[in-house]
This record gives sequence, structure tokens and C-alpha cells, in this order.
Amino acid sequence: MAASARSEVVIADVFARQTTSLNGKWHVIVDPYDTGYFDYRHVPYDESGKVTGGFALDKPAKDKTDLVEYNFDTSPTLKVPGDWNSQDEKLFYYEGSVWYRTKFDVKKSAPDHRLFVYFGAANYEADVYLNGKKLGKHIGGFTPFAYEITKLVKAKNNSLVVRVNNNRHVEGVPTVNTDWWNYGGLTRDVLLVETPATFISNFKVQLKAGTTNTIEASVQLDGADKEQPVKIALPKLQVAAEVKADAGGLAQFEFSSASLKLWSSASPTLNDIEISGGEDQLKDRVGFRSITTSGQDILLNGQKVFLRGVAIHEENPLRGGRAWSEADAKLLLGWAKQLGCNFVRLAHYPHNEHMARLADEMGIMVWEETPVYWTIQWTNADTLANAKKQLNDLIARDQNRASVIVWSVANETPVSEARTKFLKSLVDEARALDGTRLVSAAMEVRGDPNDANHKIVDDPFGEFTDLCSFNEYVGWYDGLPEKIDHIHWSIKYQKPVFISEFGAGAKQGFHADATTRFSEEFQADVYKRTLPMLEKIPGFSGCTPWILCDFRSPKRPLPGIQDGYNRKGLIGSNGRKKAAFTVLQNLYGDKAKADAAK
Ligand code: GCU
Repeated sequence: MAASARSEVVIADVFARQTTSLNGKWHVIVDPYDTGYFDYRHVPYDESGKVTGGFALDKPAKDKTDLVEYNFDTSPTLKVPGDWNSQDEKLFYYEGSVWYRTKFDVKKSAPDHRLFVYFGAANYEADVYLNGKKLGKHIGGFTPFAYEITKLVKAKNNSLVVRVNNNRHVEGVPTVNTDWWNYGGLTRDVLLVETPATFISNFKVQLKAGTTNTIEASVQLDGADKEQPVKIALPKLQVAAEVKADAGGLAQFEFSSASLKLWSSASPTLNDIEISGGEDQLKDRVGFRSITTSGQDILLNGQKVFLRGVAIHEENPLRGGRAWSEADAKLLLGWAKQLGCNFVRLAHYPHNEHMARLADEMGIMVWEETPVYWTIQWTNADTLANAKKQLNDLIARDQNRASVIVWSVANETPVSEARTKFLKSLVDEARALDGTRLVSAAMEVRGDPNDANHKIVDDPFGEFTDLCSFNEYVGWYDGLPEKIDHIHWSIKYQKPVFISEFGAGAKQGFHADATTRFSEEFQADVYKRTLPMLEKIPGFSGCTPWILCDFRSPKRPLPGIQDGYNRKGLIGSNGRKKAAFTVLQNLYGDKAKADAAK
């Protein structure tokens, strides 16, 4: 079923708003049979039939609008934000429902203010109830959602109940098969957001195409009195503009600043921006830059750029479990910076908002991705609607992040007419929402039946993307490392060529000769051989080797070596670097010097 988006509200730039954190310990009830959701037969009640506890559902809550709650007060707790798998070993493999409950009081700073409850993410679907009333259902494990609760709250003891279910579904996005851990839970910040009666729900600011000093902007108001003046100011540049919003609450701007400094990796300039509409004021820090392609070059502010990247999954290997905080982002992007990266691929789903915000500050460019991964149900209309909604939610959240230069709509999806049609509609959606960034996906590579060393990239989806990007694993899934030296490529598209994955597995600390699989030496050898091979490809414009850190995957059981981890990390699950980290660090260092000398 497509997400009931009707009740969701977009509240962007949430950390700059008047918020109260609901992070902390929430009471939980683990509900493997979804008793609280579907079936009241086992709910305790007295001889008169009066419910003495449990969910008094006279029909499944998914249709019901109210809910009589279990007595959560004596139930265990889990930390929010946080996946449940890494918090409680009884839940390590758990896939099912967990009911969360927290209580909060409310004291608005003005009587006409509005209140919302905001979730950074919940994997995979969340049914949200406040004081027994259903607010909505969100589907998609990695995108933010919010509901208005202005008319439902009371001064004291509000009860917020959330059913989070991480069961996998064939019609889901992603579908049932992924090479990453299916972490369930309220995995990111939960906040109460207070706004004026009419507030700024979202805004978009960008450099006008073809200019270096003109800013295009739009501001969307939400509230009764939408036709009112809206102002944008960049105080440090002494520039401001004011327009009247239209009846739909949309205000559109175009203004210039002679002193606008562009954002780049070398000089990640961010501008303080202040937006006011009605009684609402919103601040952010935004960089302005252009990202385009010309032939087989990627141009940042008109200058050719090579993307020295690395792929990242959203895990903190030192703590275990889903990464979610600014500290987690500092750890992961700090390692990428040490590697000499100017680019990261946040695989395979939208990461938490702190990543793109910190990348803005650090000057690291970013590829963000929706989890259209492997064998999605290409002909299911609900599946497409789900993928589009997740793409919309991602773009609405991160469209002002200068670091984000690529929206990726898929990873390694088997070529078929239905698949290419599905992906094309996502590309169209991305371009309609945001024409200022590159759109791509990790596409398919095929072998030449007559020449084992000849690789062909002619995935039909390549017609529609800005980059010709694909994953390749010669030396790991395809032959031994020495095969890498003999590979030659035929690429159909005259576009920048980007290798979105290559690599090999190694257990950190396992040393042997370079022909022994899973040794650090084997992995280092694959890196030593791959970069020179890729350099020979005309239009080679960057790569994100797979992957920064080992990560948990149910598909990697090999006892004594994988033990439930995918071991292709350059850093082990113990946080220690492998030999290949230094190999890539040196290769990127040489590359950066060579590019600077051009
Ligand atoms: C694929 C896939 C990754 C996976 C990797 C691997 O390319 O995109 O998600 O983890 O291969 O096999 O390690």
C-alpha cells in the first residue's frame, strides 16, 4: 500500500527551528505477531468484557483511528534514536513490529502557534498515534516525516505511540533481498516542532544556471494567511529581496550579489541565509555552486573535477548499528577526509541529514541514493509511488546542500524494459524537482562472450543519466587480481565515466600473500591494479570504491572471516585500517597532486 502521504507535512531545516527533542528512552513492547495491530483476541479483559489492558481494537488499527494502549509503564525501554538490533541481543535478528511509547508535556510560547511531531526516519514503516488518535503511516526506512498535532495535544502527559515494523516486502523499496542489515526502529531524531500559525515549510536556494552571482530562490509557506510578504537576506553579503507569496503560499525570487563566493571542495564557502515569512524566521548556511557535465567532463563551477571518492553505509562500526548523529557523521566523513576524498557515495539509501550538512562544511561532494536496489517490483504501481515518495522526501530535505551533486535512483538493477521505464520515471521526477544536480544510478556491466577481458557498458538506462556509472568487481567476483591488468572497456555513452563500486574483501589483521583471498594483501593488490586500469578508460571522472568500513550483512556468514559482516571495508568492523586504506590514500594523494599541476 502506498504511504498515506495525505497527512504528512514537510518541515525542512528542522534543526534551525523551535524544537523540543523527544530523544531518550522510550518504553517498548515487542510484538512479533502484531497483536497490537491486527488481532484483539488475546488482549486481557474482565468478565464484563471491559478491556483491562492491551489494544482494544474492534478492528485492525491500520484502519482504526483510535487506540486504547497497553500499559507501557512497566515495559522495557530502548534508546531513541537507535536501531533495536544493536541495543538488545534478543532483537539482533528481529524482523517484525515494536511498539514505542513516550510521554511529553506541552507549553507553547504563543497560543496561536502550531505543533508538529517530526521523525528523522523509522525503518521500515511507522504507524503513529497521539493520545490514541492515529496521525498517519509512513513507508520508507530512510526519509523524514512529520504530522501536525496542534489540535490533539493537551498540556500534560501526551502519549505518543509508534508501531515500527521492519518486515521486508517483495513490493517494498528496497525489496526483500539486500546486502545490508535490516536495522529496525526509530533510527533518527524525534522532535516536537513549534511554528507560528503561518510558517515556512520549505525553501530552495540555488545559483542560477549560467551565472556566478545570481541566486534563484523559492519559499513555501504553510498556514491560513499565505499571501504575505516573504523576505530572503544574506546579511554578510548585504543582499536581501522581498516578494509577496501567491495564494498557494509560494514566493519566488531572483537576485544577484557581486560579492558571492562559490562553494567548492577546496573552498567550501557557506553563506548565512535568513528567511522570514509572517512571524516565522528561518536560518540556514548554504553554499552556492554549479555542477554540470560537458562531454566526458564533470564541471564544478565550470572547472573540470575528478571525484576521489569512497562508498559509505550508514553504520558506526565503533558503536555498532545505524549511524544517526553529528558525531557519527564526523567519524565517517573524517575517515573519508583522511583517505584524501573529495567525494562520498552515501549508499544505498538516504543517510541522516547530518551527513550532507557536515559535507557542506568539509567540502566533500556527495552522491545520495534511493534504495531502488536489485530486484524491485518494476510493474507494481505502488512500488513506483513508494520510490517516488522516498525520492521526493530526500530532495525536499537536502535540496539546499551544496555538497550534494548527484541524485542516484538505483543500484545494480537487472536490465529489462519494465525496469528501465521505472527508472526513467524516477529520473524525470528528480529533474522536475531539481534540475540543478546530476542524476545517475549504478548501472549494469556485461561481459563479452568472445573475450573474457572485454567489458561492455551499454545499459539502456545510460541514455537518461548524466553520468555513465557502474559497479565492477574484476579481481574479486570476476577472476583474480592479475586479470585486472588485462581488462579493456567498451562504453556506449559519451558521458563522464564513474565507477560507483569496485573492491575486495579482507579481514582486518589477516595477513598472507597477495593471492590469498580475504588477506589484507589480496585486497591491497586489487586496489593497486584497479586504479591504473580505470585510468585508461576515456572520460574516467571518478570512483567510490566499495567501501569505507566493513558493515553488517545477513548475506555474509562465512565463519571466522565474515561472521555476518561484508568485509570489503578499507576499515575493519573494529575500526582499524587495512593495508588497502593506505594504498588508496597514496593513489588519491598522487591523483590530487597531478590534477593540481594541470
Ligand atoms: C554490489 C552491491 C553492494 C554489495 C557489493 C558486494 O555491488 O551494490 O550493495 O554490498 O556488491 O557484493 O559487496
